[in-house]
Amino acid sequence: MAQQVRAVVATQKGAPVTVETIEVPDPGPGEVVVAVQACGVCHTDLHYREGAINDDFPFLLGHEAAGLVESVGPDVTDLVPGDFVILNWRAVCGACRSCRRGRPWYCFATHNATQKMTLDGKELSAALGIGAFAEKTLVAAGQATKVDPRVKPEVAGLLGCGVMAGLGAAMYTGEVGPGDSVAVFGCGGVGDAAILGARLAGAATIIAVDLDAKKLELAKTFGATHTVDASRADPVEAIQELTDGNGADVCIEAVGNPTVFGQAFYARDLAGTLVQVGVPNPEMRIDLPMIDLFGRGGRVKPSWYGDCLPSRDFPMLIDLHLQGRLDLERFVSETIALDQVEEAFHRMERGEVLRSVVVLGDRAAG
Ligand SMILES: NC(=O)c1ccc[n+]([C@@H]2O[C@H](COP(=O)([O-])OP(=O)(O)OC[C@H]3O[C@@H](n4cnc5c(N)ncnc54)[C@H](O)[C@@H]3O)[C@@H](O)[C@H]2O)c1
Ligand SMILES: [Zn+2]
Ligand SMILES: [Zn+2]
Repeated sequence: MAQQVRAVVATQKGAPVTVETIEVPDPGPGEVVVAVQACGVCHTDLHYREGAINDDFPFLLGHEAAGLVESVGPDVTDLVPGDFVILNWRAVCGACRSCRRGRPWYCFATHNATQKMTLDGKELSAALGIGAFAEKTLVAAGQATKVDPRVKPEVAGLLGCGVMAGLGAAMYTGEVGPGDSVAVFGCGGVGDAAILGARLAGAATIIAVDLDAKKLELAKTFGATHTVDASRADPVEAIQELTDGNGADVCIEAVGNPTVFGQAFYARDLAGTLVQVGVPNPEMRIDLPMIDLFGRGGRVKPSWYGDCLPSRDFPMLIDLHLQGRLDLERFVSETIALDQVEEAFHRMERGEVLRSVVVLGDRAAG
């Protein structure tokens, strides 16, 4: 029987989000219902409520989540009720032309639950096909990846979006290797995760670039060896100075801004790699002399979800975390209740937090 649960909904463009009672159907074939334990507040949730993604209101927000499988559809064999899972927004199909060529991380036909959750009979658009600012959510079975349940849900859930995107931007898209020099532009949750990923991959020099001095201090705690305040210094010159006049091997753009893209492009060494993980809005344009693209060589690579494979990466990264080799706790700036998401958006806009994380069920305070 369908269940009624509390959830955070954006009903119209720009309006504050509200907590509503929504209806979650029983899982059908290929689907599971997950009792959400924690869900981080990501910039993309705010983009949805501002109408910057599309106009398919009402949106059910939240997509960086972990929880317990509550029930599974008739044909689901790899999950059982009680499994502790992290949700992902790129459940690979295994059958599209990219999957068939052995590149499932680029899957061109990722899937979500077939049935819809509803508000007063109206279908909800779940953010990134998840919608986890909710006591329970319905997802495709492939969107739920089992990991070691000893990790705290508020930490685990963060791998579901921004932290994985940042780690993967360095480790997979950027292919950072031992001894590399890396510059990360924008030190929010995604950029700091890229710094952590660069460190894990053996980078020798890791330069953090931001406009906010507080963010730069935090970036050092994740492994930045140098910082550049782009509000005071030209980041391209500063990065060249810190790399014997050459530029960095890998530059990671984690803001989503054409000016920053240009800086990251020119702050590379010859044959260097530019990774773009920041999400642009549809109006943004880049204008570069074509001769510079050719003459400098190397690679310019957009990064979808850090080119990760949730089934491969989530269990591995949680294991590294439990071994004390990957400090994910530091991303959790605060834990909040379901009705505090709107305030968390404002704190995010003011740059006060890396991640506010909604905790639900037994983990919620009071
Ligand atoms: N590609 C993906 O799969 C993926 C996944 C998740 C998030 N993202 C995107 O990554 C970006 C970063 O996300 P976040 O959660 O870290 O955001 P955030 O707002 O927490 O962090 C952005 C940081 O950039 C800094 N910044 C702003 N303008 C700057 C400039 N001109 N120069 C240097 N620094 C500047 C800010 O001070 C802030 O610290 C967003 O665009 C988000 O949508 C992409
Ligand atoms: Zn596919
Ligand atoms: Zn996100």
